[in-house]
Amino acid sequence: MTNNPTIQELSHEDRSFPPPADFAAAANAQAVEYEKAAADRIGYWEEQAQRISWETPFDTVLDWSDRPFAKWFVGGRLNAAYNCVDRHVENGLGDRVAYYFEGESGDTRTITYSDLLREVSKAANALTELGVKTGDRVAIYMPMIPETVFAMLACARLGAPHTVIFGGFSASAIADRVKDCGVEFVITADGGYRKGKLSALKSVVDEAMEDCPEVRNVLVVRRTGQDVDWNDDRDLWWHEVVDRQPEIHTPEAFDSEHPLYIMYSSGTTGKPKGIMHTTGGYLVGTSFTHWAVFDIKPDKDVFWTAADIGWVTGHSYIVYGPLANGATSVLYEGTPDTPHRGRWWEIVQKYKVSILYCAPTAIRSFMKWGRDIPAQYDLSSLRLLGSVGEPINPEAWMWYREHIGGNRCPVVDTWWQTENGSILISPLPGVTETKPGSAMRPLPGIVADVFDDEGNSVEPGNGGYLVVKEPWPSMLRTLWGDEERFKKTYWSQYPEVYFAGDGAKIDRDGDFWVLGRVDDVLNVSGHRMSTAEIESALVAHPKVAEAAVVGAKDEMTGQAIEAFVILRESADDGGDDVVNDLRSHVRSSIGPIATPRSIMIVPDLPKTRSGKIMRRLLKDVAENREVGDVTTLADSSVMDLIQKGMKES
Ligand code: WT7
Repeated sequence: MTNNPTIQELSHEDRSFPPPADFAAAANAQAVEYEKAAADRIGYWEEQAQRISWETPFDTVLDWSDRPFAKWFVGGRLNAAYNCVDRHVENGLGDRVAYYFEGESGDTRTITYSDLLREVSKAANALTELGVKTGDRVAIYMPMIPETVFAMLACARLGAPHTVIFGGFSASAIADRVKDCGVEFVITADGGYRKGKLSALKSVVDEAMEDCPEVRNVLVVRRTGQDVDWNDDRDLWWHEVVDRQPEIHTPEAFDSEHPLYIMYSSGTTGKPKGIMHTTGGYLVGTSFTHWAVFDIKPDKDVFWTAADIGWVTGHSYIVYGPLANGATSVLYEGTPDTPHRGRWWEIVQKYKVSILYCAPTAIRSFMKWGRDIPAQYDLSSLRLLGSVGEPINPEAWMWYREHIGGNRCPVVDTWWQTENGSILISPLPGVTETKPGSAMRPLPGIVADVFDDEGNSVEPGNGGYLVVKEPWPSMLRTLWGDEERFKKTYWSQYPEVYFAGDGAKIDRDGDFWVLGRVDDVLNVSGHRMSTAEIESALVAHPKVAEAAVVGAKDEMTGQAIEAFVILRESADDGGDDVVNDLRSHVRSSIGPIATPRSIMIVPDLPKTRSGKIMRRLLKDVAENREVGDVTTLADSSVMDLIQKGMKES
């Protein structure tokens, strides 16, 4: 990517937005944070570690002698659940709301920190009675309900690492994960609510369990009341076991490096990777970033991460970060368009949400549905907006800022990965003058860079590979049971440097633009380009709602650009004119080299339930192959429609 003129000219952005003066004046993190961290990085993390409570103080901040296996806050002992729950109650904050739970069908629950302490203690006592011990792995396959949080924290309390499996995964995905980390205990629910219907969970677990004879017990929360099959030797109702438990449970302190959880990474082919996080560093990372990036004022804010707990975003910014900071969060079970397309804005208005954190894919859906919908609600409680999960195209960023944030809320585009545990690159909302589409700078204490193929830092204005040059507290420690793969995936490209697998560019001002996975970076006639860049250009066209671009093999050019486009509802339904229009639009916004070989108008795009576009499947279509595994798609019929359209055109 070095010295590539295409990349150099991309991602230039003249618009920039300084933080509003009143926001800046009251912000948690001021510019001095960068100076402090630059002067003494280890000392800076030592200071951040004081945000949490240690039963035994650590004696060494970082042990990086056994690279790439880092140890943080060595010698320290703590309990993550104590930090998230008990200490707030001990500090007199028991009546503060931890969660406003909003079920998809409109049922609500308000859970204070005292309630949380009681529920987590009972759940921990129940798990102990059932034989769960420190070090045992517990799988959690649940809808977005408070019991999911109770179950996670009960595991943390016992030092039993949880592995939360996203509720949309199939039986075989559950079985793979359960077997990979030797789970003997599973927590699930009868079902959940999704798009106004009942979704089954217990029956999926039942199917998975046919392949998992090692599992001794399945503990089942009653959520929907739907009929479920029952195995008397194995299955237990949560309410029968948990409700009768004592409300007091004494947490034990564990080593700072004791495993807290395993989260399997999505999207790659082959065996899923069990990304392992440990206790002290992870809690420091999530609590620090929740303070610095989200500017949390725990006694005033209502914080809402609109993501699923089954992904790392939910772990770090619905559960551990906000709870470690004693914050009040919204926990919403359902989808943005159930029962109507204003549901999110209704929730913001109802709970006076002040900080909203979501994914660009959601923002683009809202754009498609039109500005009139959010305009019907009072969104004046919002003061800060966050984005995560994929590059945010400047148009979506601007729309978010204007139509959701009323042009008054800073927008923070936060880059990080499951492996990172917490945000690594992001504006500080009270300090950074933001540019639409850029994640801006590494946070204080984070040393990230962009390297060329040889491992040299690229010059400003150039693109390359995103790397992290120094360890950070919430980094993954290993891949469960596979140290070799851990070393090979992240530490083999450049010695002692973390390889993120993302392409990125540093612009002339030194700001970072994350261009997407390296495997989504195309090479057309020797010019490297990001699919995200072309998608962004397409989405900037007034007729386009969403776009996905893949590289298909091409004899002449190496790869050719294939675009799949959803039109806005206001646009007509396609035809050659639109396609030609779009082709010349891309040509004029990026350059002839970016012109798609073909543009297909599609009714929908294949997405995982977490909203990631599965480009692998589109690539199959573009390269005339049989379409691969569609089981992780939110809606598997999408691929049939796309293939049918392909054959007809
Ligand atoms: C990949 C990690 C951790 C959040 C949820 C996703 C992409 C994430 C951004 C961003 C551009 C982003 C990267 C990264 N990504 N945030 N702000 N800008 N790209 O976690 O499933 O582990 O995916 O998501 O490609 O590598 P994940």
